[in-house]
Amino acid sequence: MYSTPFHTNDFASKTFLVTGGAGFIGSNIVEYLLKHNAKKVVVLDNLATGFEENINSFLSLSNFTFIKGDICNIEDCKKACVGIDHIFHQAALGSVPRSIQNPIATHNVNATGFINMLIAARDAKVKRIVYASSSSVYGDSKILPKVENVIGKQLSPYAVSKMTNELYGEIFAKTYTMEIIGLRYFNIFGPRQNPQGEYAAAIPLFINALLNAQSPALNGDGEQTRDFTFVSNAVQANIKAMFAQNINTEGTIFNIAVGERVSLNQLIEILKKLIGTKTQQTYRAERAGDVRDSLADISKAQTLLKYHPNVKIEEGLKYTLAWFKTK
Ligand SMILES: NC(=O)c1ccc[n+]([C@@H]2O[C@H](COP(=O)([O-])OP(=O)(O)OC[C@H]3O[C@@H](n4cnc5c(N)ncnc54)[C@H](O)[C@@H]3O)[C@@H](O)[C@H]2O)c1
Repeated sequence: MYSTPFHTNDFASKTFLVTGGAGFIGSNIVEYLLKHNAKKVVVLDNLATGFEENINSFLSLSNFTFIKGDICNIEDCKKACVGIDHIFHQAALGSVPRSIQNPIATHNVNATGFINMLIAARDAKVKRIVYASSSSVYGDSKILPKVENVIGKQLSPYAVSKMTNELYGEIFAKTYTMEIIGLRYFNIFGPRQNPQGEYAAAIPLFINALLNAQSPALNGDGEQTRDFTFVSNAVQANIKAMFAQNINTEGTIFNIAVGERVSLNQLIEILKKLIGTKTQQTYRAERAGDVRDSLADISKAQTLLKYHPNVKIEEGLKYTLAWFKTK
């Protein structure tokens, strides 16, 4: 998947920390860094929602270290930052419903854990931090497509926690002269996304159901739209944001998506076609805190990061299905 590199720098002299590297997006970033011979890749993850299975194949590599630790514990953050040049901060508790059920847990990990990482990175004189924000920050703004500098009111504790990241990111960059860039991800999907549990995302849930001849359940009427983004595009954005020169690194935010929207009903039809099934979906009540429509304007990332999301939804779903079939 990553045969054409997204970078021109030599990774052999560079050291990386990926927090949340045993999770879905984090492990895809780790895979890219190791494939391109990074000098050192450290993962800090407490396996709250990630899996050792996601990083098992890297454990024997001499340039890879797994630290089982918690970003809520600043000593773990400091330990993970020793000798690190670049941080991809992915560790968080995802999911809007999880944050509504347990806002304290979401706040502790996503807000306090984030500031711990910033302090540890500052003290270790890390060169640049690229962190995961979320399109949920746009909240109740009805404007489409979403442009970075126009947001609405956040609709969930999760969205507030990600907004907090953006505020701290900017303040830390300015106050402590750090390079910090936030990426607002829009519905990322792909291999290693967990289909299990009550907080699973739509695409892995639907694939799992359809592959097992069960009816996928859609929230609401299925006409809500999302800018579904294959994970290799998110990896590309992370790498390009980490090494982009001549950009403002004082807490700058970029939308990371494809720039196309698909309704859940359309998504289900594509999946049914690819899988070759006639299994029908069911519909249930709308979910609290969900936004109706989501579509990114990605021109800022295209112009400044030279980000080009080259894997569109159908191709991404094919890769994802291939991975699910190996499970
Ligand atoms: N997947 C998406 O569509 C999406 C959209 C917007 C933003 N994001 C953000 O992207 C990042 C990665 O998300 P993902 O989809 O890969 O989720 P994930 O749950 O697969 O990965 C998160 C990782 O963080 C780890 N983690 C959680 N709490 C931790 C803690 N206290 N200390 C250390 N590690 C901890 C988990 O064990 C997991 O491995 C998150 O910040 C998430 O909020 C994801």
